[in-house]
Amino acid sequence: MEFTNSECLMGGVSVSELAREFGTPLYVYEEELIRKRFRSFRDAIPYRPLRLLYACKANSNLELMRVLLDEGCGIDACSPGEVFFAIEAGCKPQDVMLTGSNITDAQIAMVRHYDVLINMDSVTQLERYGAAYPGTECSLRINPEIGAGAHEHVVTGGPNVKFGIMHDRLPEALGIARLHNLKVVGVHMHIGSNILNHEPFIEAAKVFLESVRLLPDLRFVDLGGGFGVPYGPGQQGADLKEFGKAVSGLFEGFCKDYGRELALVFENGRYYVAQAGHLLVRVVDVKKTRTHVFVGTDSGFTHLIRPALYEAHHEVVNCTRRDSRPIEASVVGNVCETGDYFARHRNIPEPFPGDILSIENAGAYGYAMASPYNGWPRPAEVMVASGKARLIRSRESYEDLLRGQREIINIAYPWGETKQPESQ
Ligand SMILES: Cc1ncc(COP(=O)(O)O)c(C=O)c1O
Repeated sequence: MEFTNSECLMGGVSVSELAREFGTPLYVYEEELIRKRFRSFRDAIPYRPLRLLYACKANSNLELMRVLLDEGCGIDACSPGEVFFAIEAGCKPQDVMLTGSNITDAQIAMVRHYDVLINMDSVTQLERYGAAYPGTECSLRINPEIGAGAHEHVVTGGPNVKFGIMHDRLPEALGIARLHNLKVVGVHMHIGSNILNHEPFIEAAKVFLESVRLLPDLRFVDLGGGFGVPYGPGQQGADLKEFGKAVSGLFEGFCKDYGRELALVFENGRYYVAQAGHLLVRVVDVKKTRTHVFVGTDSGFTHLIRPALYEAHHEVVNCTRRDSRPIEASVVGNVCETGDYFARHRNIPEPFPGDILSIENAGAYGYAMASPYNGWPRPAEVMVASGKARLIRSRESYEDLLRGQREIINIAYPWGETKQPESQ
């Protein structure tokens, strides 16, 4: 986002124009920033061959995925649905990997149909897979029993989380693989999300690499994703240059001992897309109580749940009125829940009804976690680049929300037509 004297611009397009053309609430993504973030990670890691996947759980909009595919990225999927999205976005099956949790046999069959490599999350999954597809290739997700992350809900390594094969059970996994003549071509770890400091990452990688030496057929080692972005004031991202040097040195040493050069894989989601995304919301009401000023907007936790779920900080910018007197306010939404807020007790230029606010750093785990709770349709999504905006997902309609019901229970339209009214 940049500011001229009178305007707030995203990808060279004015925010007021975006709101006028596409309505609010609206997700806006800056294409150039996605590309820049991807390149900054790639260029910080000197080790080659390096393979970068995008964890599309962060944001699985197909056009956004295409921007990253165009940069040479592959896709890390966490469900058969995301495998489907990746293929639909144009990713080659060999550039997709599935790292799921509690995937059924039927779902495995669907993913095998696409010829996509699967990361086994448990020894029992490996057993099921081996019995059904003997002689094929697979990869193993290992839990190095070290975790990290900005909130306990996003720590995915360690003894108390459900993910991966505990590293001390690796010999058992190897036995199962041998029994079914499976070729374990890759190993994977992912210790958590929104990590702002690379030390736990290196510490976990050491334990992990130590435990995977005994696997004879490796082609790649995937160290996961999880690199964070600074959301709040005073936060800083990890020092990627330092990390790049440390991890490359560690991995070169590993490959030397292993006797073969392997591909090093990372699968970030948030790092590439969080900062490129803005959720534009319109102020509907300003309510002053004895203790609060509530700035009520036309969106809510249905569209960005991170503040309610993780108490996450998102900066709020008043795009309409940047220079008005700052007031302390809580920016809230239209959901019937007290926990429905974007920001609490924040100093922002005093907002008035009709103003457009931008909720910042909303590109990751924003739309991807949105829901139609309370009957609020999901927003449209727009990509901006070089002064132009293109719609990359239409706004949901009320009719969309009834999909799957109208056909079955034959609901009548109260307005007596076959189409919903124009305004929502
Ligand atoms: C297996 C796996 N890989 C990659 C990611 C991406 O994490 P992030 O968006 O923090 O980079 C996640 C997120 O939880 C994950 O579970």
